[in-house]
Amino acid sequence: MAENILQIQSLGAGGDGVATSPEGVPVFVPLALPGERVAVEITDGRGKLLRVIEPSSDRIKPVCAHFAQCGGCALQHLRAPLYEDWKRQQLAQTLAARGLKTQVSPLVAGTIGMRRRAVLSATRTKKSVMIGYFKRSSHELVDIHQCPVLSPDIVEALPALRKLVRPLLSRKNVARLSVLSTKGGLDVVIDKVEPAAEASMRIKLVELSAGLSLARLTVAGDMIIEKDRPYISFDGLKAISPPGGFLQASQIIQDKMIAHILELVSAGKAPKGRALDLYSGMGTFSLPLARNFKVLAVEYDKAALKALQQAIGLSKRLKPVEILERDLAIMPLSALELRDYDVALFDPPRSGARAQVAELAKSDIPQLIAISCSPASFARDARILIDGGYQLKSLTPFDQFLFSTHVELVGEFVKK
Ligand SMILES: C[S@@+](CC[C@H](N)C(=O)[O-])C[C@H]1O[C@@H](n2cnc3c(N)ncnc32)[C@H](O)[C@@H]1O
Repeated sequence: MAENILQIQSLGAGGDGVATSPEGVPVFVPLALPGERVAVEITDGRGKLLRVIEPSSDRIKPVCAHFAQCGGCALQHLRAPLYEDWKRQQLAQTLAARGLKTQVSPLVAGTIGMRRRAVLSATRTKKSVMIGYFKRSSHELVDIHQCPVLSPDIVEALPALRKLVRPLLSRKNVARLSVLSTKGGLDVVIDKVEPAAEASMRIKLVELSAGLSLARLTVAGDMIIEKDRPYISFDGLKAISPPGGFLQASQIIQDKMIAHILELVSAGKAPKGRALDLYSGMGTFSLPLARNFKVLAVEYDKAALKALQQAIGLSKRLKPVEILERDLAIMPLSALELRDYDVALFDPPRSGARAQVAELAKSDIPQLIAISCSPASFARDARILIDGGYQLKSLTPFDQFLFSTHVELVGEFVKK
């Protein structure tokens, strides 16, 4: 295949270097940086990086030996200022596409080893088991032995996890392992495998788990082992995670987001003493808010709400937390139901909160706080709120997904 020499002009939304081919069409070159001259092979608008001829002064050595192959990270090869500025710019551009011009605060930085929740894949080869992430744009697994993003206790457990999952794998299936680092040890959930129905298989799993600092093991929805409670905490308030339940990926960033939100909330006036937490999960924000507010937590996941109920029982000196199980996409809280709150938080899934936001836009709640892992759906929802009379007062990106192209954000809206 022909070699092309290209000049990289910018860093695209997927973290790839973007150049223009001799025919004048854009070419996306993974692992290339703006300003670099590179040799590539071009296939269907994508350039495979062969050599960096003139490197950028922003290029650095990646922290992970798997980086060139592993699809888990996209941005380890550039200096922090460029990385942080790129994440901010991505957010600003996504908002600008909806006609929203907002000052984006500096990125709240993440740190190495801060990710407490990993979703890994596992397959069996002739001789061994591979555990890791898929290669970039591929279904081929990279067998990882290190990962600077993950909490060290998860990385240390990789050899033992390989042994544990082995009897559950056939030569064909790709198992999914969700591993959460908790105060009581690792909470491991193995899915996409046959249930461990036979007593002999369960005994084997118990034996193999001896080499792990394990709190709980769940296989195909069936809890096999619970050595300890998988305790987690929200700004110091204790909770017990249900198997595979949603949690912010990093405890450090979670607590920084809670601190930021509490600061925003305390800066607002709260004459009614009431807060609403929509898409509450197991109470990441409801519980810290309940130190000062009566809270209504709304969520559709029964297991999450059960965990929240349990966490309320574990915490002392909280104001009342009321729980409402509701599918907010089908039946959002109406403008009528939204009366009498000082502040409403909403932290929807990636798809956003379109139906709920349409009702919030009609409400008179003085302060709204959005938490989002998707700038695109956030920008769409922000447009609805702004058209309904809210003003986007502040917007802060958090680097929850270190070295990836993803951005977590907290936005504050006030009624004009
Ligand atoms: C991004 S998580 C946030 C959870 C929580 N705020 C936290 O920080 O841990 C989104 C939550 O929304 C819930 N959810 C998703 N779709 C929903 C819907 N249509 N109605 C109610 N809750 C929903 C999920 O179960 C999940 O707990």
